[in-house]
Amino acid sequence: MKNILVTGGLGFIGSHTVVELCDQGYNPVIVDNLSNSKIEVHDRIDRIASKSVSFEEGDLRDKAFTERVFDKFKFEGVIHFAASKAVGESVEKPLLYYENNLTSLVNILEQAKRHETSNFIFSSSCTVYGQPDRLPVDESFPKLPAESPYGNTKQIGEEIIQDFCKANSAFKAISLRYFNPVGAHESAMIGELPLGVPANLVPFITQTAAGIRSQLSIFGGDYNTPDGTCIRDYIHVVDLAKAHVLALEYSSRMNLNYDFFNVGTGKGCSVLDVIKAFESASGEKLNYKIVDRRPGDIEKIYADTNKVNQLLGWKAEKGLNEMMKSAWEWQKKLAID
Ligand code: NAD
Ligand code: UFG
Repeated sequence: MKNILVTGGLGFIGSHTVVELCDQGYNPVIVDNLSNSKIEVHDRIDRIASKSVSFEEGDLRDKAFTERVFDKFKFEGVIHFAASKAVGESVEKPLLYYENNLTSLVNILEQAKRHETSNFIFSSSCTVYGQPDRLPVDESFPKLPAESPYGNTKQIGEEIIQDFCKANSAFKAISLRYFNPVGAHESAMIGELPLGVPANLVPFITQTAAGIRSQLSIFGGDYNTPDGTCIRDYIHVVDLAKAHVLALEYSSRMNLNYDFFNVGTGKGCSVLDVIKAFESASGEKLNYKIVDRRPGDIEKIYADTNKVNQLLGWKAEKGLNEMMKSAWEWQKKLAID
């Protein structure tokens, strides 16, 4: 059974990916410092996967800890989710973001080299494209200057990996550029756990419907889009998790030693589309109002998914209705727990 290191494996996307890895017969090893996740997620993963998944608690900025993890297990692949991800916080605390997101990456690559571990999958983001001049955006589009220190860590992270691959021809790595991951596992046992007031749309919607927030503010109704609200490519987190398993398999057979893929559905949805889908999936009426634009938001983006469809053999299967339904089931469960 193949050991796969999953850094940040107790987080939102990591936890769903660990479940998919178990389903596909891999042996994931989770490393997490619990800075943005709860230890209870480990037990829930075990219950969904019906197995005891290895977990090492620690911080990947700590070189000695990272070395100990690599010494303890022989890994055949690494999926690197661990990072700080709050765009607004990154503007306030840029050094925290550069330190956490980049030091961890360098420490892991060092250990991967020492142990000759290949098949490295990196969590990147469609933020690397900024506002593209035409849509859908494909992987040949240029990367635009990042809008935030967080976005910059994804651009620099991709470059670090690319340089590392150039210097180590046997090492294979893939960056996955996620569009907007939402939704939750069908069991409603794992999902997104935002700390404090959610910055992202879908957790804000579900918390408003659950009565935790009084009203959703839609940031901007005067964009150049059919209904005036911003357009994004929302992707179900379980579909995204599956893309990681396929990326691991692809990395071991690809000819290049570094490649990168968009992971989205290819469909653009406005904020109002998402609200409508939520209301229809949940049967709840949402209290919202349109307010000023949020600084830094791009108007519209959605993915060209041809490359990921063809080379990884991956295609998003779940639509907006399933995304909203599962996000709502997860929110209701949270209210009970
Ligand atoms: P998350 O915060 O839910 O998960 C990240 C996990 O990493 C958390 O459990 C946290 O405790 C852990 N972690 C952070 N720093 C660590 C460190 N130094 N050592 C050990 N563990 C550490 O985030 P997520 O939404 O699951 O995102 C996963 C990855 O995907 C991140 O790299 C993020 O930047 C990227 N990404 C996320 C989105 C999104 O919208 N969620 C979009 C694009 C890219
Ligand atoms: N929005 C609202 N009200 C809210 C929250 C969001 O109207 O309370 C709007 C935003 O203005 C935007 C859309 O909903 O038009 C989506 O916003 P999110 O904050 O959910 O997502 P973003 O597209 O801004 O960014 C997210 C992550 C980034 C990641 C990016 C691409 O926050 O980390 O997706 O993957 F890089």
